[in-house]
Amino acid sequence: MADHYFSAEPTSADNRRTVEARIWGRDYTFTTATGVFSRDRLDIGTAVLLREVQAPADGGTILDLGTGYGPIACALAVESPKAEVWAVDVNTRALDLTTENASRAGVGDRVHPALPDGVPDDLRFDEIWSNPAIHIGKPELHKMLLSWLPRLKPGGRAWLVVGKNLGADSLQRWLTENIHPTTRQASAKGFRILKLQAPS
Ligand SMILES: C[S@@+](CC[C@H](N)C(=O)[O-])C[C@H]1O[C@@H](n2cnc3c(N)ncnc32)[C@H](O)[C@@H]1O
Repeated sequence: MADHYFSAEPTSADNRRTVEARIWGRDYTFTTATGVFSRDRLDIGTAVLLREVQAPADGGTILDLGTGYGPIACALAVESPKAEVWAVDVNTRALDLTTENASRAGVGDRVHPALPDGVPDDLRFDEIWSNPAIHIGKPELHKMLLSWLPRLKPGGRAWLVVGKNLGADSLQRWLTENIHPTTRQASAKGFRILKLQAPS
């Protein structure tokens, strides 16, 4: 079967390259590879998320759900020097790249790449950031969100970027009805930035 970017272990050749990105005023070089989401450049949706939302100043425990090669996790760890960032993905090649990229960015000690089962069960998050894998299909997407978003601490919040044409508005309603109140924080370039707020 052909690889998807969400394949657990991509079978395609691991052809690596680097992409440059400017996030929150800093320049990054990320290693990417075939079989990983958006290997040619920082994804536009991810760029919109990182432009519209600021990293938390006070650190805390953060989850980057569906980290890919780790751009969100690395930038959060750099910008928020006290944060511990869990970078979760089902794709082992993505996790290898995140390890490398975090190390290059000087935050390898505070970025924790992990498969979903590799995160301690009792860990709770101050913030969850995600450019979620919409293409896994609605049942899987809902299952993934139901297994992570309720793990926000009281008063914690989640930031999600979702394509307007990929069901952002219906996902916003579903999140509000099934998890926590969710509002639209911004809208740009065909993407919605959703903010989910856990009660205090
Ligand atoms: C849209 S990509 C975003 C990647 C990266 N955050 C970025 O902005 O470039 C979504 C990622 O979610 C991962 N993914 C798919 N299903 C997942 C699951 N059940 N749990 C965690 N990650 C998953 C995919 O492998 C993919 O890397």
